[in-house]
Amino acid sequence: MPAPKPQRVLVAEAAIAARVAELARAIARDYAGENPVLVGVLQGAVPFVADLMRALPIDVTVDFIRASSYGAGTSSSGRVRLVADLAVEVADRHVLIVDDIVDTGLTLAALKRTLEARRPRSVRTCVLLDKAGRRETDVTIDYVGFTIPNVFVVGYGLDYGGLYRNLPYVAALDVT
Ligand code: XMP
Repeated sequence: MPAPKPQRVLVAEAAIAARVAELARAIARDYAGENPVLVGVLQGAVPFVADLMRALPIDVTVDFIRASSYGAGTSSSGRVRLVADLAVEVADRHVLIVDDIVDTGLTLAALKRTLEARRPRSVRTCVLLDKAGRRETDVTIDYVGFTIPNVFVVGYGLDYGGLYRNLPYVAALDVT
């Protein structure tokens, strides 16, 4: 069966760029002089990290972590498995986890706990998209790009069965 086609642009390319610049200003202000570790969550956060890091006028270290993902499905299993770890040590460092989207919050909550166990100076979270109405844990999201309704989205790193990560905008996908 062919994959469903992205239908409606939810966040346009220019809107993403403008919001990334705003987030970068806030992050730069909050972490001035601190050289935080940006921890991008593979694979979905790649475009967001790439844009965010280039908008940051402060020293940062960039690394990536990979948690088990949805695969071709569209709903959270609630289980999180680390399938690739960081190369840098985060002990005594400020850590900012950067992810594409927060839905139930289970993935970010688990990643946060995992990194907090390594005795960093702090762990904060930054997501481009927040499906706020879907939260099942009270994980704090420190920097949010856009709050979106409960629709399945693709583009700007987000995929459906491996497709559409390369779209420069975020679009809704009807998967029913
Ligand atoms: P939780 O529920 O743990 O999920 O916050 C976070 C992860 O779920 C995936 N996710 C999506 N992926 N379109 C996607 O392509 C979506 O609308 C969507 N909602 C959740 C994503 O992998 C995210 O990191």
